[in-house]
Amino acid sequence: MATPTTHRVPRPRHGDELVLQVDSIAQGGRGVARANGYVVFVSGALPGDRVRARLTKAKRDFAEAQAVELIDPSPDRVPDRCLHGGEPCPGAPWQGLPYRRQLDEKTKQIEEALRRLGKLDGFELEPAEPAAQEWRYRNKLEYSFGEHDGHLALGFHRRGSWTEVIDVEDCLLASELNNAVRNKVREWAQREGIPAYDRRQQAGVLRNLVVREGRRTAQVQTRLVTAPASFAKPPVDLHTVVEGPGGGTDGPTGVLGEEFLAEELAQLEFRVSPTAFFQTNTETAERLYEIAAGYAELSGRERVFDLYCGIGTIGLALARRAGEVWGIETVSEAVADAEENARRNGIANARFIAADVRLGVRPLLERTGRPDVVVVDPPRAGLSKQVVRRVIECGAPRIVYVSCNPTTLAPNASQLTEAGYRLQRVRPVDMFPQTPHIECVALLEK
Ligand SMILES: C[S@@+](CC[C@H](N)C(=O)[O-])C[C@H]1O[C@@H](n2cnc3c(N)ncnc32)[C@H](O)[C@@H]1O
Repeated sequence: MATPTTHRVPRPRHGDELVLQVDSIAQGGRGVARANGYVVFVSGALPGDRVRARLTKAKRDFAEAQAVELIDPSPDRVPDRCLHGGEPCPGAPWQGLPYRRQLDEKTKQIEEALRRLGKLDGFELEPAEPAAQEWRYRNKLEYSFGEHDGHLALGFHRRGSWTEVIDVEDCLLASELNNAVRNKVREWAQREGIPAYDRRQQAGVLRNLVVREGRRTAQVQTRLVTAPASFAKPPVDLHTVVEGPGGGTDGPTGVLGEEFLAEELAQLEFRVSPTAFFQTNTETAERLYEIAAGYAELSGRERVFDLYCGIGTIGLALARRAGEVWGIETVSEAVADAEENARRNGIANARFIAADVRLGVRPLLERTGRPDVVVVDPPRAGLSKQVVRRVIECGAPRIVYVSCNPTTLAPNASQLTEAGYRLQRVRPVDMFPQTPHIECVALLEK
């Protein structure tokens, strides 16, 4: 009897191009396709698409790829609306998915993360809260300078490229005002003949432009990021100098116009420092805070800890319904904003502490005694094990967890349930339409 021969298909390699049928979306938003039993995560592709994709990483069990040609679009696709130079906006990778489908995908990813990663069940997954606006919702955008066809460009890096910048005329994620301000800065730079910074050559001047907007105040704040150089006074509010070939926008900042941004949210007035975090979608953040307030079930007497409080937005939105609010935040400028924001709004029962949450919770607990509600709103990395222990030590009957990453919410919620909490309710809130970014609010009780 002949011995069966196994024909091993050679594993694809970095740089190879494959034709792939995308059948679903993975956590984080990339398309999932299979090639000879091998899983490929494809950027720039949606479920139902048939694409040609170039492999950017090839591992033993999976690969990563960038779609380079859409051969057969999914029949479910809606036409891309935000295009720059004929290419889909890199900031809106899900714009081809009908909006309802975006909400369903996000809800599914939260559910999968909680059930599979967190091994959690018995919670109520509430219907996703849609964004207040599907387009023109971002109050902050960061643009890059570069050279394109021999002229100075100001826009976004081409998807998957660190060198090429696509000029942006009208980005539908930003307001008309934001777009007009960016175009004005580009005209100034072109008129002055100031070159873009080239990271490979380590030469040139202009790196980035950050445009931030008070949606309710119509104030725009512009920050120009450059290499060290002297040039004509730019038409911006802040000028940051960043040395060296690395990226990023952090560096010594000179104030040329307005230092603080003014915004209104939850019927409160806020001052925002240039280095302070502020939710990117003002209108939907208001809904997020209302949902968090609903979960907190305040009666007017409670002591609330607002951990990772930023400029105090959540704490101050809750203060009128609480006995006292204590915020902890690591960026001292944001804490100064939070204190000023309490003053501005005549809120006398909210205090803010500049500290790392890891170190600040115990002394606060000793000072105030047990809180009734702990609100946490950490960055994408979620809570470290040590911070989870500090939260458990607070002994609050109720924890409201505002999360921008279900894959870190899931293990954190699981650790909290091991300490006697129950995950009761979770509600997705769509802060970032046309993108895979997911925000949700979770309620844990004991
Ligand atoms: C997602 S933002 C939330 C801010 C605020 N709750 C809001 O809604 O605007 C997370 C905040 O945590 C702060 N942060 C990050 N790591 C921290 C730490 N270890 N201790 C205290 N604050 C931290 C950041 O500066 C940022 O302001």
